[in-house]
Amino acid sequence: MAMKESHITILGIETSCDETAAAVVTDGRQVRSSVVASQTALHQKYGGVVPEIASRAHIENLLPVLTEAMHQAGVGRDEIDAIAIANQPGLAIALVVGVTAAKTLSMMWGRPLVAINHLHAHLQSAMLNEEQIELPAVALVVSGGHTSLYDCESALDLTLLGSTIDDAAGEAFDKVATILKLPYPGGPSIEKAARNGDPKAIRFPRSMLGRDSLDFSFSGLKTAVLYHCRGKDMKGADCVDRMSEQQIADIAASFQAAVADVLVRKTRRAADRIGARTVLLGGGVAANGALREAMERMCLRHKPPRRLLVAPKTYCTDNAVMVASLAYHKYKAGLFADLTLEPNSTG
Ligand code: KG4
Ligand code: ZN
Repeated sequence: MAMKESHITILGIETSCDETAAAVVTDGRQVRSSVVASQTALHQKYGGVVPEIASRAHIENLLPVLTEAMHQAGVGRDEIDAIAIANQPGLAIALVVGVTAAKTLSMMWGRPLVAINHLHAHLQSAMLNEEQIELPAVALVVSGGHTSLYDCESALDLTLLGSTIDDAAGEAFDKVATILKLPYPGGPSIEKAARNGDPKAIRFPRSMLGRDSLDFSFSGLKTAVLYHCRGKDMKGADCVDRMSEQQIADIAASFQAAVADVLVRKTRRAADRIGARTVLLGGGVAANGALREAMERMCLRHKPPRRLLVAPKTYCTDNAVMVASLAYHKYKAGLFADLTLEPNSTG
């Protein structure tokens, strides 16, 4: 008699920032459902995420999102083998909502709990369709809160090579969008405005932090955009109101090109250092077309070409598929958390 192949189905939960998300994924790659309740509308008028508002919205949204994820997947709780939760890094009062829910489900359903690092999960999105990646691999996570480069040995084995010393790449997009009076979240707004702009119109600075550094700094670039818009004396607070659409588009395109340039050059530096055959790219900013193209060019130019694996656009920004998918590898490795699990904002 043929043995029944056993499949592992995991319910993933994500509440680290301003998206309440749940997903059901089988064997790490078969996406059965993915539900994301975005809070963008709630935070828009503040130009950024307000932690207290995010936390309250997670409490309101989580149960309907979980119910919908189970419903869309067509599974009952008996078919769930484990509960996975992103417990770090993120906003503490946002993380705690998901962690509490995951621990409760784990206890009530008698299923193991898997704790997931949100940044590592972003990279898992880039590996979603891959059986195996060719090593060595360098991995870049670019999100609203983090810009981190890793030496990636496997989905579970990541060594940090460098990170931002000030603003994250996504944060820079959001802050520059505020300067240009473009709607929140800034990344998609800047990308849209940049479509009609000239990326070479303004030569904004590219901070490389010295020849050997694998760290990032974006605050100087943000200040350069501010000075460009308001003048060095900062007297032109309403200058942006007097700018033409073309001027705004040129600033957006030039800023975007500067960010992409730095991200690609640092990734190449890291890839050269570890002799990378593969480059992984994930996180909200990885949805940016200019960055994806520039990274692809860098990879193709190398001899022999490096393989670029980028998260599908739908799984670049926060979601729970990446959480449930990474949890499969931890499940297989027997790496479980217990009910003392706490959120950890710094990760
Ligand atoms: O990964 P993510 O959803 O949340 C965090 O973990 O932070 O990333 C959100 C960030 C925001 O800063 C947003 O402006 C940026 O990703 N982002 C983009 C694009 N889409 C989202 N940045 C540049 N271009 C985009 N198309
Ligand atoms: Zn994220």
